[in-house]
Amino acid sequence: MRITYDEICDAFYEIGIIPVIKLSQIEKARQLAEALVSGNVPAAEVTFRAEGAERVIETMRSFCGDMLVGAGTVLSEEQARQAESAGARFIVSPGFNPSVVEYCLKKNIPVFPGCVTPTEIERAMEYGLKVLKFFPAEAYGGVKTIKALSAPYPQIRFMPTGGISLENLKGYLSNKSVAACGGSFMVKAELLEESQWDQVRDLCGKAADIVKEARR
Ligand code: 3PG
Repeated sequence: MRITYDEICDAFYEIGIIPVIKLSQIEKARQLAEALVSGNVPAAEVTFRAEGAERVIETMRSFCGDMLVGAGTVLSEEQARQAESAGARFIVSPGFNPSVVEYCLKKNIPVFPGCVTPTEIERAMEYGLKVLKFFPAEAYGGVKTIKALSAPYPQIRFMPTGGISLENLKGYLSNKSVAACGGSFMVKAELLEESQWDQVRDLCGKAADIVKEARR
């Protein structure tokens, strides 16, 4: 059953941190999914930056059915279609790409485009979107910029991604305009390369504790 836009937005808020994954060793997808779930972070944005992303999405979904697995770095309608057939429950893109957004809306796939300027935010609002990726978050001024943008757009929630760490996560999540953060710090290339699943689980656990603390 397909999850609705509002349900995904609520789930993002609940989970608080969405791991951004670049995995080309498809055979590791199952262990990675299990490590994320056991670290209390049952979500993944599997980026199309790595070849085989569709198979990673399929594998994660088949072994961890309740996990929120979506596709990231979706740059074209063609990739959106591939993500959809792989079973992605949501689609994220780094920028605002109208053809990706329109395809997703037509197909009822929750979509989260990246928007960092008032112009981009207003374009997204015209499509009825209310949760937007904010990328690259730290380079674009982090929490300070989100605060400034939320003055004219109080109805918009952001998903800052890019430069998020265990150190700055709480600062982002404490802002009421932040729906969730995205980050790769718990799934860094070397951790996946060396199959450091305990380490992935522990970093997720630490992030999940920060989410709880920030949302208190
Ligand atoms: C993304 O694609 O969302 C980012 O590359 C993730 O950024 P990070 O690696 O700084 O967490």
